[in-house]
Amino acid sequence: MKAVGYRTSLPLSDEQSLVDIDVPTPQATGRDLLVEVRAVSVNPVDAKVRMRSGPVGDEYKILGYDASGIVKSTGSDCTLFKPGDEVFYAGSIARQGTNSEFHLVDERIVGKKPKSLNFAQSAALPLTSITAWELLFDRFAVPRDSAGGGAILIIGGAGGVGSILIQLARRLTGLNVIATASRPETAEWCKELGAHHVIDHFKAFTAEFKRIGVNSAEYIASLTGTAQHYANLIEVLTPQGKVGIIDDPETLDAKPLKDKCASLHWEFMFARSLYRTPDMIAQHELLNEVADLVDAGLIRTTANEPFGIINAANLKELHALIESGKAKGKLVLESFS
Ligand SMILES: NC(=O)c1ccc[n+]([C@@H]2O[C@H](COP(=O)([O-])OP(=O)(O)OC[C@H]3O[C@@H](n4cnc5c(N)ncnc54)[C@H](OP(=O)(O)O)[C@@H]3O)[C@@H](O)[C@H]2O)c1
Repeated sequence: MKAVGYRTSLPLSDEQSLVDIDVPTPQATGRDLLVEVRAVSVNPVDAKVRMRSGPVGDEYKILGYDASGIVKSTGSDCTLFKPGDEVFYAGSIARQGTNSEFHLVDERIVGKKPKSLNFAQSAALPLTSITAWELLFDRFAVPRDSAGGGAILIIGGAGGVGSILIQLARRLTGLNVIATASRPETAEWCKELGAHHVIDHFKAFTAEFKRIGVNSAEYIASLTGTAQHYANLIEVLTPQGKVGIIDDPETLDAKPLKDKCASLHWEFMFARSLYRTPDMIAQHELLNEVADLVDAGLIRTTANEPFGIINAANLKELHALIESGKAKGKLVLESFS
């Protein structure tokens, strides 16, 4: 089968950083599905793994987490899907990735693809939806009704995760949704997705909160630039509030949160599959719920127009766009030819 992989971690300027390869098609066993991949999307984690870790032994490492496709065959213990089912999912960080014509994935982290979206539009959603959902409902435990009240500040609102978190917070909770964006087009995007207010993440948050007439936020989702914004965000946190972090600050001091008696939450959407937690099927369930919300018209895809087919040249361009930190919504590729 066709795939895109690499043998050594290299910058994109090196021809060998991502190459088109042919590898044997794997076989599904146990609770694995063999999925014919129809579309993928690129996330910052693709670029981070490419730069930080190489393959084990002489195998090529194949990247790619988000995918949509069609189940080709199932392992003998599968109960959730059958051949022919259309699915979307975000894979496991511990396994070969989705930049391949066929891909193995544990059915407990796979959802049914939204019926109202095509494969490219669907591939944009799984990884960021799982992250946003787990942060909002599993870590922050925000009530799922409009009675909740309070505010959430979403730092990096127009990025992949922010674009879906804005929608979930707006449509499924009673929170006042404040997103950050630094450019007119990203600010507009956040408003279109449902943010009540947009503030600039390169200005002092206290002044920005004053401008929009909000005192503080009970929940702060620090999605991008946490190291840069940490002191700033604590200033606008409501006492006894919650801070959630998903990016990779080199160090993080929890002490400044003591004065406000605030709690710190890490979200890592790969943790359930990496540690095979007893509740890993929660990702199957939440992806199905996201698909239903999309089909009900409550949530929209965050995909931009597909950039092209799945090959090394196009993946390199998307890794470069992601590395620029300027992505708006999600970048997707579809089909292998
Ligand atoms: N832990 C997890 O489970 C998990 C899951 C998904 C992602 N992540 C990580 O979370 C981070 C965000 O992911 P993503 O997919 O949302 O990223 P992304 O799509 O690449 O984010 C791009 C957005 O970031 C904004 N941005 C750039 N620099 C910023 C800064 N200094 N402060 C605030 N915002 C800034 C930009 O907005 P403007 O153009 O308006 O400035 C842009 O729209 C990445 O580090 C990713 O690896 C972690």
